[in-house]
Formats: sequence, C-alpha cells, structure tokens
Amino acid sequence: MRVISNIASLRDVRRSWQAEYKVIAFVPTMGNLHQGHLNLVKEAKMKADVVVVSIFVNPLQFGPDEDLEAYPRTLENDRKVLSEMGVDVLFTPQVKDIYSRGLEQQTFVEVPGISYMICGASRPGHFRGVATIVCKLFNMVQPNMAFFGEKDFQQLQVIKAMVTDLSMNLTVHGVSTTREDDGLAMSSRNQYLTAEQRTLAPTLYQRLQEMRDKINSGRRDFSRVTSECCEQLAQAGFSLDYIEIRSADTLLQPGHEETKVVILAAAFLGRTRLIDNLQVTLN
Ligand code: PAF
Repeated sequence: MRVISNIASLRDVRRSWQAEYKVIAFVPTMGNLHQGHLNLVKEAKMKADVVVVSIFVNPLQFGPDEDLEAYPRTLENDRKVLSEMGVDVLFTPQVKDIYSRGLEQQTFVEVPGISYMICGASRPGHFRGVATIVCKLFNMVQPNMAFFGEKDFQQLQVIKAMVTDLSMNLTVHGVSTTREDDGLAMSSRNQYLTAEQRTLAPTLYQRLQEMRDKINSGRRDFSRVTSECCEQLAQAGFSLDYIEIRSADTLLQPGHEETKVVILAAAFLGRTRLIDNLQVTLN
C-alpha cells in the first residue's frame, strides 16, 4: 500500500491507473478506523480494481464547540489495518494543502434544503463542510465509485444530491450500518462513553426497533409513536437532540403515498452525541 499525502503524487498514481483502464473505488474517512469503515473497504474491494482510502479530519465540518481537537487520531494503526486489507493507496493530506487559501476564504459546496434539516439544524454548517471536503476529495481522487456508511444516513443523502446536482461522474454506494453485538452502531465517538453510558447506549437502537415494530403493526400516528419513544429515552437518561420519522428518499415529512420511511435519531449520553437510524418499508 502506498501512503500519499501530496495531491500531485496522488494525481500521478491516478493517471497511471487510468492508462490501464482500472476501476477506482474511494472510501473517504476521518480515520480512527473501526469495523464499519473496514466493511466499506471490503465492499469497495469487491466492486473495483483499485481502492483509495483517505484519512482527513476535516475542520470545516466541526462546529466551534465540537470535538475537532479531541477527535481520535490513530494513523499508525489505521495504516497497518488498511495495508493488511490490501488497500492500494492511503491518502493522508494536510489541512494546509486541502485549505491552502485558509478556511475563511474557502469556496464551499452547499446542498440546500436537505442540509438544513434534522442533523443540519442541530449542527449549522456541518453538511456544507462535509459536501465541500467530499467534493474536493472526489476532484483529487476522481474515483468511479465511492462508499459511505448508512449510519450517517443524512450525510449519504446530501452527498448523493451533490453528485446529482453537480453532474459528477461517479456512483455513490451506501453500505449498511455495522453494529456491536449489543446493537450499538459503531462510531469513533463511542470511545468517549463511560462504562455506565456504554451499557446504556444500545437502548437507542432498541427503541428505534420498537418504533419500527409499531409502524410494522400498522400504526401511522407517527408523531405519537415518536413522542412515546422520546419519553422512554429521556427516562432512560438520554438527552434527546431529535427523533424523526421521514421519507427515506427525500428526508421530508412522509406523505400519504410514502413507501419507505427512515427513523432518524440523535441523542446525548453526557457530552457524547450518538446517532442512529432504521429504514422501514411501509406495506
Ligand atoms: O463520515 C465521515 O467520516 C466524514 O464526514 C467524511 C465523509 C469522511 C467527510 O469528512
């Protein structure tokens, strides 16, 4: 595996692959890799000839009170794991090269509407930061396909919308959420949880499953189903950011003809913000 931090060197490698008609897959990450990331890499390897993984903790997607400085950085371990998996290139650019004119001057990509709701309402500017870095990385790697986890369901929809709106020449693949044995969605932020919070954390997914079961049993009073779940989670000790049932296609409020919804949740345990989601097909 080649480790490249320089954009020009990445482009050289990209050019040589193009000359050999290789299909290029890309997995963008912020590092501190867990099995969820490795499953993205596995999917990428199955579908393409060569795989590029990037590790870049993107300052543009963190709010002023968020965990940018504390975000876990484990490059040496990540490098070893990716090399063992047979990744072709690990791209590790520096902030000064990615945002060479400074964060304040940076041209940005904004996907309106979908970026402002749900997580976007709680984290203003977050999806602008995500869309901007993903667009820039796509321009550098120029992949044929890119892989993202469904755990960040809204992020995946924002990226798909950006790719459509800007006529980008690649396919975006969503990969299902990887969970711990007790159901907790894998996340780099889970390591912030205390032992007590970690025991409580899977409750979030359990309540989402209960909501799914209620919907599957025929309930369509979504706001009641949601508030029942909110009450239970608050009683269990979660501080809720949101729980929403939305159209899985548009993330808007579900209409009468909706065929698939997604239950989206974000809740704090202490200072750690957990997110999760569950898609439900309506019969
Ligand atoms: O999901 C993430 O890890 C990040 O938001 C991404 C897509 C790598 C952009 O920084």
